[in-house]
Amino acid sequence: PFDWYARMRRESPVRYDESRKMWDVFRYEDVDRVLSDYDAFSSDMRDAEAVSFDDDQAMRRTMINAEPPEHDRLRRFVDERFRPGTIRELQPRLEAFAAEFLDAVEDADRIDLVGDFAYPFPVTVIAELLGIPADRRDQFKSWSDALVASPTEETTAAMEKNERQRQRARREMAEYFGDLLDERADGDGDDLITLAATSDDLERDEKVGFCILLLIAGNITTTNLITNAVWCFDEHDVTDAVRTGEIDRKQAIEEVLRYRSPAQSIRRVATRDVELGGETIEAGELVTAWIGSANRDPDVFDAPEEFRPERSPNRHIAFGKGIHYCLGAPLARVEADIALDALLDRFDTIEPTDEPKSPLSTQLLHGLEALPCRVERAE
Ligand code: HEM
Repeated sequence: PFDWYARMRRESPVRYDESRKMWDVFRYEDVDRVLSDYDAFSSDMRDAEAVSFDDDQAMRRTMINAEPPEHDRLRRFVDERFRPGTIRELQPRLEAFAAEFLDAVEDADRIDLVGDFAYPFPVTVIAELLGIPADRRDQFKSWSDALVASPTEETTAAMEKNERQRQRARREMAEYFGDLLDERADGDGDDLITLAATSDDLERDEKVGFCILLLIAGNITTTNLITNAVWCFDEHDVTDAVRTGEIDRKQAIEEVLRYRSPAQSIRRVATRDVELGGETIEAGELVTAWIGSANRDPDVFDAPEEFRPERSPNRHIAFGKGIHYCLGAPLARVEADIALDALLDRFDTIEPTDEPKSPLSTQLLHGLEALPCRVERAE
């Protein structure tokens, strides 16, 4: 999509797309405005869009589609748990999970980076944070699979089937989380389900919605970040330099976030008529803010089409901006850092065997469905 973004930034940075009945916004400055100005551009699309949450009250009531004051109430109770300091304390547990997945492919000389590692690792981390009992992890993973699965074909029938499976997973999860929330209503555990269960600020649907939101927002994005990092490092021949520390790993991850942003776009709805880039967006119209394009805007980044792992400063907006700024950003950063540290420590060689292909080319996400790699263990 990156050539298309560049052309759109030059030729029609704010434009209405008739076929999707939606505005597209491509420049950094404008994307920043759309994300920051929640008064004019609302995340509450519950009425504007034929969202598929009809039978799913819980998902209608989460922070990601609410605006203040509702938003702040829905986010406040959990904010502290995702601060960098709190997340750092989790590090040893996360390292143990990463090691576990790599132990499982101990003797392989080929792995699928996505299926063997980058996908199950974040799912397990979220399950752990929520306090999902270990014997339900597989069930939890299969719900996650259903939520992220893409239709097998581009036909209406395939898409409807896919959507039905997704709804079923959401329903089953809602039931399961509902039961756990009830069980833990007087609990004193430090897991997030107990935290939600014991909160006086949230209604039941909102508690359930919160649990499902974490799974939806936090998994495939983190999978993509880990996958895109291995992909970018190989593509630009810096894997060894990152392994030895010659290139700072954390800084390189920031550049991956910019260069191959795991979430490429975000939607809003205009609450009133707004001027943007010389166009008038009317009240009620939908807007797609292209983060992936903003992150390659030459007005903000030198040589934006180059992957520069030591880029500094790096003002990418891969985690969004403003009040909806990603709750899980500190966690995602730590997960990616631990994942790459573990991989590069374990393997002397980790090399995609083919040109990475079949990008998950939904409008929303940027990543790979699989990344077969040849690996050689370190001595
Ligand atoms: C919000 C990206 C990982 C939980 C967002 C937003 C973006 C984003 C762009 C803003 C959405 C908007 O403005 O409408 C990413 C990326 C990730 C990642 C690129 C990984 C590399 C995570 C993780 C979690 C998480 C690991 C949780 C465990 C959330 C939540 C919100 C959010 C709850 C909504 C925040 C709010 O509305 O106040 N994320 N995310 N994300 N993210 Fe993430």
